[in-house]
Amino acid sequence: MSVRAAIIGLGDISSLHLAAIDALDDVELVAVCDIDPDRAAAASERLGVPAYASHQALFAGAQPDVVHITTPHSEHAAAAIDALDAGIHVIVEKPVARDPRQAAAVEAAAARSSAKIAVCFQNRYNTPVRAAKQLLDSGALGAITGAAATVIWHRTAAYYEAAPWRGTWAGGGGGLLMNQAIHTLDLLRWLVGPVVSVTGTASTRVLPIEVEDTAELTLTHDGGIRSGFYATNTHATNAPITVDIVAENGQLSLRENLVVSYADGRTETVADDSVATGERAYWGVSHERLITDFYARLGEVDPFWITPADGARVVDIIHEVYERSYPEQTAQLKRNGELQ
Ligand SMILES: NC(=O)c1ccc[n+]([C@@H]2O[C@H](COP(=O)([O-])OP(=O)(O)OC[C@H]3O[C@@H](n4cnc5c(N)ncnc54)[C@H](O)[C@@H]3O)[C@@H](O)[C@H]2O)c1
Repeated sequence: MSVRAAIIGLGDISSLHLAAIDALDDVELVAVCDIDPDRAAAASERLGVPAYASHQALFAGAQPDVVHITTPHSEHAAAAIDALDAGIHVIVEKPVARDPRQAAAVEAAAARSSAKIAVCFQNRYNTPVRAAKQLLDSGALGAITGAAATVIWHRTAAYYEAAPWRGTWAGGGGGLLMNQAIHTLDLLRWLVGPVVSVTGTASTRVLPIEVEDTAELTLTHDGGIRSGFYATNTHATNAPITVDIVAENGQLSLRENLVVSYADGRTETVADDSVATGERAYWGVSHERLITDFYARLGEVDPFWITPADGARVVDIIHEVYERSYPEQTAQLKRNGELQ
């Protein structure tokens, strides 16, 4: 019998989720959901499934086995928690939730549920990233001594106008860090180790948004290893993300490819085979890999390996920087109940 899938939020990223569902033989899309009635109706007609206006109506009406949550950040936690409490498996887009308190509530719901949840940090499925992880875990490079990463990207005013939640604290819970750079912060945690403290600044320099478009952070990982991190959405193009990790016996450098330079002069390259083509090429094919893997592991006893705790710890890191960089805004939003 097919696994019954549904999706909540029919905006930009939903097309990648729908394509991944469509590519799976034993998974059937049974319903869609969006609060925008035109979007919901258009998707319903195109995909030949019923549309619902709320996640509660979707769960009651369509009884999916798995739900994909591809809504604005402010909407992630409520849908994820209700799904987990109803025993429905969840694939939630990043961030796991808009703010630390909502993220902790998702963690708690996952802990009391028999259902599984994945957080969509799909860059962990990029071939060069996986090769880097395997190499570091193998011990061949020795202990890590430091790291640095950059996300130097391009977002226009039109990108924020097209979906106004993106440029706001209430809808997005933040800007560049929470929406774009979060993937690379997750990679630093995954590759270098848990983060024990962070200092840094975030600021709004160029884009017409209330949240940050530029940030620089210093992360201290377990064992005192430091990562330097710079990110901006104000560049003229989307440059490749960079992650450089220095270890006792060599260095690794992630761009599109992975280049490993050993202390004895040897080098190795692992090519990126996860690049897609077309307008959205920079999104790659790793979404499909993550989604396929999630469905393949539904029968396993263990939780899915990219956990709500992984998602929540990155949100915690980002919030430490927000509270220092935007003290008045974050305090006011907390008083309003728009940020927790
Ligand atoms: N993993 C990635 O690389 C990646 C890339 C892009 C976006 N995303 C994430 O995907 C999510 C959606 O981003 P997007 O750019 O597609 O947004 P979008 O604004 O294009 O689409 C969001 C959709 O959700 C709908 N919606 C809003 N509130 C809702 C609710 N309560 N119930 C049902 N539907 C609701 C909106 O009407 C809209 O159609 C965000 O979490 C974003 O960070 C992830």
